[in-house]
Amino acid sequence: MEKDMTTTVSKLATEAKPKGIAMNRVPLKSWNCRFDHRYEQIKQVGKGAYGDVYKARLKPEYCTSEEEEKSYFALKKLIATKSDEGFPITSLREIQFLKKLNHENIVNLHDVVVSKQEGDNRDKRADVYLVFEYMDYDINGLISKKVEFTSANIKCLMQQLLTGVKYLHDNDVMHRDIKGANILLDGEGTLKVADFGLAKQYDKFRKMYTNKVVTLWYRAPELLLGSHNYNKSLDIWSVGCFMAELFIGKPLFPGSVEAKQIDLIFKLCGVPTLESWPSLAYLHAFSELDLSPSPDQREKFFKKLPTYSKTLDDQGIDLMLGMLTLNPDHRLTVDECLEHPYFTTEPLPCQKSELPKIEGDAHEHGVRVEWKEKLLAEKQNQQFSSSRNYRDRDNNRDYRRDDRRDDRRDYRDRRDDHRNSRGHHRDNRSHKHHYSGHKRSYHDRERR
Ligand SMILES: Nc1ncnc2c1ncn2[C@@H]1O[C@H](COP(=O)(O)OP(=O)(O)O)[C@@H](O)[C@H]1O
Ligand SMILES: [Mg+2]
Repeated sequence: MEKDMTTTVSKLATEAKPKGIAMNRVPLKSWNCRFDHRYEQIKQVGKGAYGDVYKARLKPEYCTSEEEEKSYFALKKLIATKSDEGFPITSLREIQFLKKLNHENIVNLHDVVVSKQEGDNRDKRADVYLVFEYMDYDINGLISKKVEFTSANIKCLMQQLLTGVKYLHDNDVMHRDIKGANILLDGEGTLKVADFGLAKQYDKFRKMYTNKVVTLWYRAPELLLGSHNYNKSLDIWSVGCFMAELFIGKPLFPGSVEAKQIDLIFKLCGVPTLESWPSLAYLHAFSELDLSPSPDQREKFFKKLPTYSKTLDDQGIDLMLGMLTLNPDHRLTVDECLEHPYFTTEPLPCQKSELPKIEGDAHEHGVRVEWKEKLLAEKQNQQFSSSRNYRDRDNNRDYRRDDRRDDRRDYRDRRDDHRNSRGHHRDNRSHKHHYSGHKRSYHDRERR
């Protein structure tokens, strides 16, 4: 792995930038990508802050073998650009990470292509696509479809996920957005970590990273409390939240805003003390925290879940407690997680081929579209009679609202991150404007 990709990206951006192009944009012609019109899109499978993802295959006339005819690809369309405007430097960073990373549990980037330009018309928009191997499911899609995982299934998924994260951490890469929608599974049961849009090379000498990273529900407490000096352990917190979600079938900490998020965490994990987390005193939000003692409910919580207790054994609880440790210095490392007795106690992890399969594919976006269609049909038929329907509808609305908020935040995060990489540390200066504080309300923050 190259030590610091940020330098390369910034160098590319500054060296190859003609006049009139914004600082965070890279002109397409400054790097080598082919114009390509060989793929045909089948359907949309993903929608994110930075582009849509489509299931695609090679057009029959370009297939040279039967195998190629049967292969599918995922095309991630980056922001549509005018050919002389370029596209965001964060996307270039994502490509650079994907090109360097090569592991069975990390998604495989085949190619980067630009949709065919017709004629010489400079105003014609060019679409840049990342071409990936196609993965049948993302874990959020499976959870939303109420797929049930046995204890052995969850062990197999967790082992593969942690193996992928170990590869990243061994190469000093922080993923910074681990969550079900970014964890993909293929028909053979191989799990792959995807979406490197927020990934960052960890440098132990660097003292400043933006803390506006990781989707809120999976964001580690040190980030929520304003740390800029975090390390790879932030990914382990997200993995812990994800593991809990596999057991309980819904997000563990579904906060709507930062203050609510930290409240939910403290309610379950207890309020930290300076004995349990000495460096808490150096965090920006320390003076605003209400540190009245509150018991750690995690063990009780996981044990008392009657529906899930049949699949959640003591070793599983112990591993989750280790990952969901408030003090990042005491949190388990990825090696410690993989060596945890949870993986060697009966029932052992199942074979990949034994993981549950469903008809067709399942991605978070598809499930959301299905929900929307269902809601629309329900509305049209005026069938909101049962309370169950009302509950589903409300959950769905919250989910979509959170998602839109996530999209806006993702954009701000990536922008701040980009500015940081240019040495501006803007998020440091503006931190107090962003942080809502443990005691302040969301509306106070919005007004400021
Ligand atoms: N290789 C792939 N195969 C199948 N689906 C994919 C693939 N890559 C991404 N997706 C789907 O598209 C969604 C968005 O892709 P992602 O890379 O996470 O983009 P974003 O940065 O916009 O979140 C994912 O949650 C997943 O459902
Ligand atoms: Mg994503």
